[in-house]
Amino acid sequence: MKQKVNPYEVEGKIDYDKLIKEFGVKKITPEVLSEIQKITGELHPYLKREIFFAYRDLKKVLDEYKKGNKFFLYTGCGPSGPIHLGHISTWRFTKWLQEKFDVELWFQFTDDEKFLYKNMSYDEIQKWTYENMLDVIALGFDPKKTHFLIDTKHAGIIYPEAIKVAKKITFSSIKAAFGFTDSNNIGSIFYTAMQTVPVFLPNILRNENRPCLIPLGIDQDVHFRLSRDVVEKLGHEKPAIIHSKFMVPLTGTEGKMSSSNPGSAILMTDSPSEVKRKINKYAFSGGRDTVEEHRKLGGNVDVDVACQWLKYFEFDDEKLKKIYEDYSSGKLLSGEVKKILIDKINDFLAVHQKKRREAVKLIDKFIYKV
Ligand code: TYM
Repeated sequence: MKQKVNPYEVEGKIDYDKLIKEFGVKKITPEVLSEIQKITGELHPYLKREIFFAYRDLKKVLDEYKKGNKFFLYTGCGPSGPIHLGHISTWRFTKWLQEKFDVELWFQFTDDEKFLYKNMSYDEIQKWTYENMLDVIALGFDPKKTHFLIDTKHAGIIYPEAIKVAKKITFSSIKAAFGFTDSNNIGSIFYTAMQTVPVFLPNILRNENRPCLIPLGIDQDVHFRLSRDVVEKLGHEKPAIIHSKFMVPLTGTEGKMSSSNPGSAILMTDSPSEVKRKINKYAFSGGRDTVEEHRKLGGNVDVDVACQWLKYFEFDDEKLKKIYEDYSSGKLLSGEVKKILIDKINDFLAVHQKKRREAVKLIDKFIYKV
């Protein structure tokens, strides 16, 4: 299947080097990693493992930071269904950035976007907004330094800025970027303006001039490709971006994990037995047809979803290396790697689900007070 990457469709086996060229972003090099490490002291496994692999203007933001001008982080969630492990890979890394750089995070919940794009009622979207906020809080962001913006609730502060952005983006550039036709609703045409505003809104609210760094999955880059120049024309700095690859679906290494395809995703609310069932049933295996063959020829870690997912959950480099070696040599069988993954994910989810229950009481602390 031909590769397709935009906020509304991710298809095919993604060639990330090709994307780097197509999108005009830069690859994260060892030099960039060492620049980060000089400040943070260590590197997050997602950086070492090239899960976060590309950037725009990152060096500028690091230079400013070293001069004492701290950036703020901006990222977001489109609330139209349950949160899965793919979403949180981006946010776990965001949390690490918040901690290591000691910076504020502005987190946008785009309930307007999902209402406009999905065949769902306004009330359903509000329910998912609430549920998704619980998952974000459960990841442990600092409530004093994290501000939730909900598009319909914070419209009073977002909208006056969104119209300034919208006035500078033509319908033809939106059409070209998203492949819109005459049958798209007019709200969806406007939406990119809403996603652009948090790039500079904190500076307006605080009367400051801080750089903005956006951690995101690379599908979201399109919005900012359209609006980075616009932001500058409005007198604000272009945002820096750090891009993540996609966590692959359970069923194979094409496309991305997504809530709309139940066999493809593990949800944050899945029970231990559900996690076990899904992985055993759906996780695409890089193993051989028979145990004898597997022992002789070994498995293929590159297509084995359990091996690929362990990159997100086994943070000990040595342990991960050993699993990869043993699987490649045939010493470890597919079922055994799946078992390692099931245990890792269930340990992670047990903590997450406890924090998620506690998050109910914390929501108010996170929602930005106008
Ligand atoms: P949404 O809700 O589709 O996704 C939220 C974030 O999760 C990333 N993501 C993934 N990352 C890795 N593997 C996957 N399988 C996977 N699936 C989703 C997305 O790239 C995204 O970073 N319009 C946005 C919400 C938004 C936003 C932002 C996102 C508003 N402002 C600024 C990033 C930055 C949306 O619907 O995201």
